[in-house]
Amino acid sequence: MQQDSSPPGQVSRRGFLKGAGAAVAATGVLGAANLPTTPRNTEPATLKADEVVPLRFELNGKQVETKVRTGYTLLETLRDHLDTTGPKLACDYGACGACTVLLDGKAVNSCLVLAVECTGRKVESVEGLAQDGKLHPIQAAFIAEDAMQCGFCTPGMLMSCKGLLDRNPHPSRAETADALAGNICRCGTYFSIFKAVDRVAKAPKEGK
Ligand code: FES
Ligand code: FES
Repeated sequence: MQQDSSPPGQVSRRGFLKGAGAAVAATGVLGAANLPTTPRNTEPATLKADEVVPLRFELNGKQVETKVRTGYTLLETLRDHLDTTGPKLACDYGACGACTVLLDGKAVNSCLVLAVECTGRKVESVEGLAQDGKLHPIQAAFIAEDAMQCGFCTPGMLMSCKGLLDRNPHPSRAETADALAGNICRCGTYFSIFKAVDRVAKAPKEGK
């Protein structure tokens, strides 16, 4: 059985999901201080496990609202509540990257992020890449370099590549490999994906 390796005093997503019932029985409520912490998660709210709570955040440039149970992950919320099925549910424990989205510009495994952590934040999924009918440069580069086979990993790969290129427009191969280390492609298209990132990095930018 997988152990909860969270530091003392913190509750991991796994621990929250599996142990919430017992924890709440013992304490009544889970304080926000005991939720997985992020720099933006500073709301002094208290949440009961399995409580239904309102949720509002920015998804692909638009404000969205829904209601979720406190144990719901961002991935479940996107797929089951917000009709956003680009992020894929595969391993469900942070091992494959198929569920990758950008949260405030940073690639995360949405199967490991609680939806309640995303209040007021900015989420980007593969559905938001193309704009006004025009593919994002990394999508066009994936096609040009034939960087997909079955395509199951592709939405997550694209988001990790976008996150990398947004913060580092000219990554080295080592930096690209590092950024994609959490994304597994069972079809083995890594080399073509690296070439797609190189293609975007080398392309002349608009207005230059
Ligand atoms: S489904 Fe999230 S990392 Fe595999
Ligand atoms: S293209 Fe099939 S898993 Fe990556």
